Amino acid sequence: MMKVFVTRKIPQNAIEILKEHFEVQTWEEDRAPKKEELIENIKDVFGILCLLTDEIDKEVIEKAKNLKIISNYAVGIDNIDIKYATQKGIIVTNTPDVLTQATAELAWALLFAVARRIVEGDRFVREGKFKGWEPLLFLGKEIHQKTLGVIGAGRIGTAFALKSKGFDMRVVYFSRNENEVLQRSLCAEKKSLHEVLREAHFVSLHVPLTNETYHLIDKEEFKLMRKDAIIINTSRGAVINEEELVKALKEKRIAGAGLDVYENEPKIHPELLTLENVVLLPHIGSATYHTRKKMAEMAARSIVDFYKGRIPKNAVNASF
Ligand code: NAP
Ligand code: GLV
Ligand code: GLV
Repeated sequence: MMKVFVTRKIPQNAIEILKEHFEVQTWEEDRAPKKEELIENIKDVFGILCLLTDEIDKEVIEKAKNLKIISNYAVGIDNIDIKYATQKGIIVTNTPDVLTQATAELAWALLFAVARRIVEGDRFVREGKFKGWEPLLFLGKEIHQKTLGVIGAGRIGTAFALKSKGFDMRVVYFSRNENEVLQRSLCAEKKSLHEVLREAHFVSLHVPLTNETYHLIDKEEFKLMRKDAIIINTSRGAVINEEELVKALKEKRIAGAGLDVYENEPKIHPELLTLENVVLLPHIGSATYHTRKKMAEMAARSIVDFYKGRIPKNAVNASF
């Protein structure tokens, strides 16, 4: 039987699907395998089911002589050297669509949490500081009829924007292509990045991390934003220059941030931890029972499909 290596414990349904065709080995520890450990385990495998925390670079791919498929348990694929995998004739797949709603919902959860100071309020109550209703206690920002700026109007960006309907918001977006769904359903306007940043009360990032989007939001961009703006990031940490984000927050050049992702995960900029106007989550965009199970099924099926001679529909480099 050919082998598949699964780099972490994932929902069991994936393992059952894989076991029908492969000898499956799973990394059982509560931490990601180190590079040497990864290399050691994939030497002779047909497929690898990996996470966004596994860096599948040239060195790793080179060592896996029989590798035919890399199935990423994520939609983002910035952890994989796609170019080199393609050169080697290795197919790469991801888990799009099944995590779109969960991630869009989490972006809204962050937006609300920052705008209405939910986490600060919770801490206040637990610390026994609540002495009764007060006119000026924890004033926050209203969302109704404000301008929502969406950066990257793809699957998640679109789902996120559509959910603004109930709040009667004006929607502006930045993407390379026109988004007809947003234009038709919300009368959303496509703008330049800088226009979106100048206008939006709430900015939410939904681009993949690529050479083009690395530090897309940098010093200059923070200068353009409204002083009362809140930025939400559920895409990848390095889309924002984290150092500049900290400065903008400290100097109150923007009002707040809601972050699920960081530039050097799991490291967090120490000053972010000291700021009141930020809400910090541990990269849990897709973390619902429903979605993680669907992702597991999709990631496993991709490997089985390819084994059976079909190009998986969620292959990201299927053109070779
Ligand atoms: P997607 O459908 O590919 O959407 C991303 C959109 O970004 C694309 O449709 C593209 O639209 C736009 N884009 C790409 N490059 C751009 C550029 N240089 N400038 C402007 N826009 C650009 O992907 P998705 O499924 O929505 O996922 C988006 C990202 O979210 C993933 O790559 C991943 O990093 C992140 N994510 C995070 C979590 C989490 O747990 N926090 C969960 C899921 C996903 P145009 O072609 O119109 O430019
Ligand atoms: C999560 O961050 C993903 O890209 O699926
Ligand atoms: C607040 O609780 C109100 O009744 O206005």
